[in-house]
Amino acid sequence: MQNMLITGGCGFIGANFIRYLLTESDFKGRIVNVDKLTYAGNPENLADIENDFENRYVFIKDDICDGIRMNEIFENYAIDSICHFAAESHVDRSIVQPDAFIQTNIVGTFNLLEAARSRQSQITRFHHISTDEVYGSLGQEGYFTETTPYKPNSPYSASKASSDHLMRAYYKTYGLPMTISNCSNNYGPYQFPEKLIPLMILNGFEGTSLPVYGDGRNVRDWLYVTDHCKAIWTIMKHGKTGEVYNVGGDNEMENITIVEMICDILDEINKLSDHRPRRELITFVKDRPGHDRRYAIDFTKLNRELDWTPEASFETGIRDTIEWYLANRKWVERVKSGEYQDWIKAHY
Ligand code: NAD
Ligand code: DAU
Repeated sequence: MQNMLITGGCGFIGANFIRYLLTESDFKGRIVNVDKLTYAGNPENLADIENDFENRYVFIKDDICDGIRMNEIFENYAIDSICHFAAESHVDRSIVQPDAFIQTNIVGTFNLLEAARSRQSQITRFHHISTDEVYGSLGQEGYFTETTPYKPNSPYSASKASSDHLMRAYYKTYGLPMTISNCSNNYGPYQFPEKLIPLMILNGFEGTSLPVYGDGRNVRDWLYVTDHCKAIWTIMKHGKTGEVYNVGGDNEMENITIVEMICDILDEINKLSDHRPRRELITFVKDRPGHDRRYAIDFTKLNRELDWTPEASFETGIRDTIEWYLANRKWVERVKSGEYQDWIKAHY
């Protein structure tokens, strides 16, 4: 893997992955990061990387929905491996405006697959980043395994399910050397503050309302983003072509428990704040339509075959994440005010 195309590298997980590959892993090649810079993409997430790894990191502002440009990029940069993160990723947005999810998540993935197929002899690995949401919702018992039937419930998860099916079809039909990982909820630095954890951290810090959907008893399996990055790199290096791997944190939690934990940690860090006790900011609001009740991942396959296991405990990970958001107020202010978008317009 000498010339790796990473799509969506300016988003939350993509930026953490590029940082991990270049600063911590044994990856020796060059990264070509293609990102459209939607509201969720912020090149500031990698500003230091752009400086420190001038010879091994290239950023291209482009749209994976543009098939001609994707072909050119594959040719111009002699792409031999792909790690595909680019997507519209927020379930609530997919409910209000599904169009972009269909375009980017389905058509965009198709364009990348076609570009890879047209130079297939040079492609060693096409890894697709997917989600546990393709499996639908669990009751109180059971876990998602790699053979759980797909039952997506939101436009977001349906579009990700479609992209997974395309990946599989290109392996079965054309022999494209692909792998897929279906991962549970990530948290950590650089997550856009529309998602549960960063939203609650920032609202809690500022003393504004903490909107919990429904009864707050929906369950997600939370994984620290660096653990996800390690899983992806392990699969890219050692995963078997054509295989799917579930990735999870072995850390099921109800939303309300997480929100209360964040409140308590913020109170403890900020003992003199007028916003204490922050639990009083919690407001139960109308539920998300089609809200999946419970996700829980069985990652036995990844553990048994590739020896991966999550390392960060939630107690440590959530504290580090809260501290990161409090220490990076400038990043937060630029993202919340939309100032980062002005910077993007001026530079790209
Ligand atoms: P994100 O929304 O933070 O980032 C998505 C990135 O993709 C952004 O940088 C955005 O600019 C870029 N992008 C969007 N449309 C594009 C297009 N048409 N062309 C090029 N770039 C485009 O998302 P994330 O949370 O980092 O998720 C990354 C991937 O991981 C997604 O595929 C998502 O489905 C999957 N995933 C996320 C989680 C999670 O908890 N966040 C869990 C499992 C899987
Ligand atoms: O499971 C993996 C998925 O996790 C990824 O595929 C998605 O890209 C990612 O966004 C995430 O989806 P969720 O819908 O689970 O994440 P979100 O942070 O939006 O919500 C987590 C839970 O918190 C969910 O049950 C809804 C609830 N919630 C969310 C928000 C934003 C609230 O109660 N209040 C909120 O304000």
